[in-house]
Parts: sequence; structure tokens; C-alpha cells
Amino acid sequence: MSDHVEEIQPGDAIVPGKPVTVNRYGPLARLNHWVTATSLILLAISGLALFWPGLFFLTGLFGGGQNTRAFHPWIGVLLFVSFFVFFFQLWRANLPSRVDIVWLSRIRDVLGGHEERLPELGKYNAGQKFIFWAMTGLILLLIVSGIGIWDQYFAGYFSITARRIAVLVHSIAAVLIICVFILHVYAAIWTRGTLRAMTRGTVTGGWAWRHHRKWLRELAGQRKTRPAK
Ligand code: HEM
Repeated sequence: MSDHVEEIQPGDAIVPGKPVTVNRYGPLARLNHWVTATSLILLAISGLALFWPGLFFLTGLFGGGQNTRAFHPWIGVLLFVSFFVFFFQLWRANLPSRVDIVWLSRIRDVLGGHEERLPELGKYNAGQKFIFWAMTGLILLLIVSGIGIWDQYFAGYFSITARRIAVLVHSIAAVLIICVFILHVYAAIWTRGTLRAMTRGTVTGGWAWRHHRKWLRELAGQRKTRPAK
């Protein structure tokens, strides 16, 4: 665990104006994020439809049961590729740092709206980092176990026992990632002013000052600024 996490990513910059805004994600990172998000939502719907008979009617959205079974693993491949393109842009800024332990131990202040009592934070807080690494681990588990039960192409490669274990791992990982997804979307909506980071790519200077002051200070210190358009 270190104090020197690489907080600034290519494209991050302060844009002077009224109000000051800060560039947080470029267009390609946002496209990448939304492809990832769409594929996870489609996977959750199609996966739950195949998992539980009470939701089988949802297969109608994909053109019936057979098509759902055929599409689901390919959407999984799309999620895997798209998430890992995103992963390689963000992993450095998500490395754990000492301040994360302080953030977690003062979670009451975070939830109570008293972030001023906490130390200054870099680009991501411990909650965001948890979601990042949880999604990373769960997507790896899902793709590996998913290949194990993709009978159309891989049935001959794995024993029945291995496939039984894979189906259990796949189901548990799927339920967990749906929980992490709900937590992620809830946090993004709950922390006002965050959603625009993934829609417009920018946040206000006030948002950056309040939630990620160390990141903002580093941008100012390195004179990472862009003229307003
Ligand atoms: C409708 C669904 C979603 C919404 C509304 C949403 C919203 C957001 C927002 C607003 C941010 C920017 C947060 C910030 O920079 O402070 C973000 C970041 C991020 N999102 Fe999502 N997201 C959604 C789905 C997903 C899915 C399905 C995944 C992955 C499977 C995902 C992975 C990430 C990651 C890894 C980050 C960067 C945060 C970090 O690295 O710690 N998102 N999302």
C-alpha cells in the first residue's frame, strides 16, 4: 500500500470559466463505460431469464429461449473485452493507498455528509476502488466459469464435475455482480453531480474540491488546464 497512487490520467484537466469545470473522462472512455454498462444489463436480464423459470418470459426480449441462450455468452465476451479495455485506463488510479483505510474507518462522516473531516482524496475513494476491483474479479470469474459451461464450443474440454462447479461459480458471481452494480449506480446517483462525469465527461470544480481535492490540487499543481470551448 502506498501514498503515491498515480491520480492524474491522460485528458484530466481543469477548464477555467464560470463555473470552473474539470475534465474527468474523455469521449472514448465514456463510450467504453457505456458499452460495458449496456452489456452487463443485457447479461443480467438474459442470465436471470435462463436462471429462474419465473423470469423466463424475459427471453422474449432476445427472440425466445434458444436465441437468449445463444446470445448470452457472446454478450459476456463483449463485456469482458470492453471492461478490460476500460480496466487498463483506470487501474493505476484505483491502486489502494493509506488514505483508503482512513476513509473506510470514517464511513459515518462520508454518509453523514461531513467529508471536510476526512483527509483529501485522489481521483477515487475507497468505495469506488472497491467497486472497480470487485467488478474486475467477478468478471474474471464469470468469463472463466462461463467458458466452462459454454457447451456449444467447449463441451468436450471439461469433465461433468468441472462443469457442475463452473455453473455454481457462475451463478454466485452473477448474483454478486448484480449487487455490486446496484451499489455502483446508487452511489453514482446519491453523490450529486457525479453522473455528468459519465455523460458529459466533466464535473464542476466544486464537486472535485469537495470529493477529490487531492486530484484537483495535483491538476492545478501540474498546470493541467484546457481553455474553455
Ligand atoms: C446504468 C449503469 C451505470 C451507471 C449510471 C454508471 C455510472 C458511472 C459514473 C457516473 C461513473 C463516474 C464516477 C466517478 O468518476 O467518480 C462511473 C464510473 C465507473 N463505472 Fe459505471 N455506471 C454504470 C454501469 C457500470 C457497469 C455495468 C460497470 C462495470 C461492469 C461500471 C464500471 C465503472 C467503473 C470501473 C468506473 C470507474 C470508477 C473506478 O474506477 O473506481 N459501470 N460509472
